[in-house]
This record gives sequence, C-alpha cells and structure tokens, in this order.
Amino acid sequence: MRILIRNIGRLCGILPAGIRRLEGRDMGSVAGIDKAWLMIEDGVIASFGAGEWEGESDGGCEGGLCCGVFDEVIDAEGGWVMPTFCDPHTHIVYAGSRDGEFRDKIAGLSYEEIAARGGGILNSADLLHETSEDELFEQSARRVREVMAKGTGALEIKSGYGLRTEDELKMLRVIRRIREEFPITVKATFLGAHAVGREYLGRRGAYVDLVCNEMLPAVAAEGLAEYVDVFCDQGFFSCDDCARILERAAEFNLRGKIHANELAVSGGVQVGVSHNALSVDHLERTGDEEIACLKGSNTMPTMLPGASFFLGMPYGRARAFIDAGLPLALASDYNPGSSPSGDMRFVMALACIKQRLTPEEAFNACTINAAYAMGVEDTLGSITPGKHASLIITEPLPSLAFIPYAHQTPFIKRMVF
Ligand code: NIG
Ligand code: FE
Repeated sequence: MRILIRNIGRLCGILPAGIRRLEGRDMGSVAGIDKAWLMIEDGVIASFGAGEWEGESDGGCEGGLCCGVFDEVIDAEGGWVMPTFCDPHTHIVYAGSRDGEFRDKIAGLSYEEIAARGGGILNSADLLHETSEDELFEQSARRVREVMAKGTGALEIKSGYGLRTEDELKMLRVIRRIREEFPITVKATFLGAHAVGREYLGRRGAYVDLVCNEMLPAVAAEGLAEYVDVFCDQGFFSCDDCARILERAAEFNLRGKIHANELAVSGGVQVGVSHNALSVDHLERTGDEEIACLKGSNTMPTMLPGASFFLGMPYGRARAFIDAGLPLALASDYNPGSSPSGDMRFVMALACIKQRLTPEEAFNACTINAAYAMGVEDTLGSITPGKHASLIITEPLPSLAFIPYAHQTPFIKRMVF
C-alpha cells in the first residue's frame, strides 16, 4: 500500500532518526519543509522532500501521478502535515461522569475535600463497579473517537477506578479492546494505587499489600499493562508505598509512571527517579530539588496544565524546567475529576499562555517528548523515515503559533493513521 501526500504547505516536525527526546534549548525549534511531499509505504513514512515528487511513474497520469504507482494520492491543498499528538497520561476509561462534584467545586470545595468526603475517585469506582465491561468500552470508545478527531494518535490509558482486583482487570481489558479496535497506539498502565478502595478505608497498608500481592501478579499474568503508576501524594499514597509498589512492579518487568507533586511537594519525583520511572507526572508543586533530581535521569517530567486549569491549582514551573536544560512532555490527564478534556491543542494553549512555553516548545512537548513519556518514541512523535505515518493534515495555517493561538478554530482536514 503506497500513499503519496502532495501539495503540502509545510511538512512540520521533522527529526532525524535516533532522536528520542528533546531537552532544554533544543525544545525551542521545530524543523520543517515548505511546499513538500511525503510518501507512505505500508503505514510507514518512507520518504519526503521539497516541491513535487519526481519518482517513478508511467507518465500517463496527470502530474505524473499514476494510480499504478500509488494506491492513493492525497492533495493536501496547501495544508500542513505534522505528526499526530501523543497523549502520555490519560484516565479515559471511566464510567459516567462527575458533573455533580463540579457544583461542589464551584461552591469552594477543594479536590482533597471532595475526596476526603468519599467522593472523587471512589465515586468513579462505585460507578465503574456497576457498569458492565461492554458498556464501559462503549462509553470509553466515544471519548477515544473524540480525542482522535482532535488530533491524538497515541494514548496512554490508566486503570485506577476499579480498586478491586476484578474491577481493575475489567478496566485493563477495556483498554486492551481499545488497542485492538482503534487504529491508534495505546499503552496500558496499571494504577491500582490511585486511591485506597472502599473496603480498605483506614487500612492503607493492607490495600498496598493487595496491590502488590494480588493485583500486580494478576495484571502481569494476563499481560494487561506495560506500566505501573502510583498516586504518590498527600492524602493518597506515601513515598514508601510507592517504592514498595515500584519494586514489586520491577519483578514483573513493569516500569513506573508516577503521579507526583500535584497536591504537595510529596517526594514523588525523587522516588520515581530513583526507581527509574519512565515519567513523573503532574508536578504542579516542585522546588529546585526536583529539577536537580531530574537532571541526567531517564525520567520524563510530564505536566498536565488541564488539571491546573480545571482545579484552579498552580501551573507547573515548565519554564524553569526547560531553562534548566530538562526535557518536558505535556499530557491531557483526561479524567472525570480533574480534567474532563483530552484536547491536546488546548493543552498546548495552556502551556503557552499559562506556563510561557513557546509554540515550538509546546509542540515538541506534545509530540516527540510525549512519545518518549509513553515509550513510543521509536515509532511516533515526529516526521522521520521509518516511523508510523500517524499524521494530521491541516487546513492551511499561517504559522505554528496559530495552532495554540486559535485553539478552538477547527484545523484538521484529515487524519492518516
Ligand atoms: O491525574 N490525581 C490523581 N488522579 C487523577 C484524577 C482522578 C480523579 O479525580 O478521578 C489526576 O488528576
Ligand atoms: Fe492522572
């Protein structure tokens, strides 16, 4: 199967092979070619170049583009071609919604207060328990279609609204079905330690035992997850709990991705880095110690400005991270409690407006660095020969800045997966 995309206004997001992530100053540029073509062979980016494609043809077709050479020729009509967004932190599989708590939040209750009253994550867990696997899939699939239509081509999806072994497995099976039924890349993360389950309230240690001794082995036995996450924060799980779970996860060859420093300076970054976590996420509250700790590590700091927006929390110090030479990824955190949106373009806009990232930095944080944060940088996140042709074809754009600037203006003409 060969596809040619011609008449591209700008081919945007080109990287040489072998670049796994961008750090510091390198995040500030996005390479591209004006007036370009791109060729896809069997779903993989085969080649690209400037001007018109001038390869083999039998000369009989208009513009030398013969149906015998290509199975499809797409005229981009001057629109841009760029990699799809990777979203490396979502909780897109959940039942129902939490719009009731939206009123509590407006009335002034904090995220922690809602959770402490038995609402929050436990609310979603109750609802999920009552929802069949098929129904959970249908509800989640609707959200997957929604984010795909907004340009997302790869999703990391967490469990964590089960909090009972069977319900955690139910979530992870729904994630597996999403991977099977959609053309996007999906990575699954087991987040049994999202909150202490209702049956274990007041017995956190016993719940961590359950996560380590029953849930993790069951998840690993079915091969249902690539990563393991812990909500390592004030009022949820401690650094010691987190270390225990990460060490147990390592026995099953599962790498960590930690919720850290959302509600307090929790030590979550340090415990994540010392256990070689793939990413530490949230980071709304960090000091210079966290920056120093991340320097030289393989762990990707990942910020979720949609959660700051929705919860009225501080935004992570993204500028300080990048200025210190660190890489940075962005994610939507799509979930019913702190970010009921998976719009990566809105995430880019928030990162620019609220965190002072340049549009180029925000773009790299949502593509190549986001790909790294979910372990798919070898195949996604840039225009690179050999990577999957997971592409957005846009309407003609005046500049890269237009993407976050006019973030509510539809800009996608067509997606290629
Ligand atoms: O990433 N912080 C913990 N977990 C989610 C919120 C989950 C929820 O409230 O349902 C987050 O923000
Ligand atoms: Fe989250």
